Amino acid sequence: MTASHTGSYEPVFVGAVMEELQSVFQRYPNKQAALLPTLWIAQREHGWISDRIMAEVAEVLGLTPAYVKGVVTFYTMYHQHPVGKNFVQVCTTSPCNICGAEGVVKAFLEHTGAGDAGATSPDGKWTIVEVECLGACGFATPVLINDDFLENVTPEKVPDIVKKYR
Ligand code: FES
Repeated sequence: MTASHTGSYEPVFVGAVMEELQSVFQRYPNKQAALLPTLWIAQREHGWISDRIMAEVAEVLGLTPAYVKGVVTFYTMYHQHPVGKNFVQVCTTSPCNICGAEGVVKAFLEHTGAGDAGATSPDGKWTIVEVECLGACGFATPVLINDDFLENVTPEKVPDIVKKYR
């Protein structure tokens, strides 16, 4: 974590992380074009994208903080508040809903202790959210846990999945 409880701020892009970013820049025509992967690295390091991190990213890339914020708020893959260690996205769009997606959400909320969609479990390990179509409509219910894509998830399978990621 880069922010301490005292309110001080430690920059994300120093040392090895800055070196990694420099190598990312090689793949783009200019630094500004690397905004999305830069934000991705910042989120990986910090867990979420705070206003202070947006300001640092803007400074590193030579953009305005307002421009960076516009991008962060556009893409749902960037977290604008702290989330659990396991970020679980369940598709609840109509085709998956007809196949029981709401039951899958309910099972995740119960078995992780998160309690409510969008909330984080008291142990800080789980945040469950409902999302629109994940592009796997024939494999209801699809669930994305961090970078892992699971298909054909049913409420009955949820306890074992939760055990695996706990
Ligand atoms: S509607 Fe759920 S993956 Fe498309």
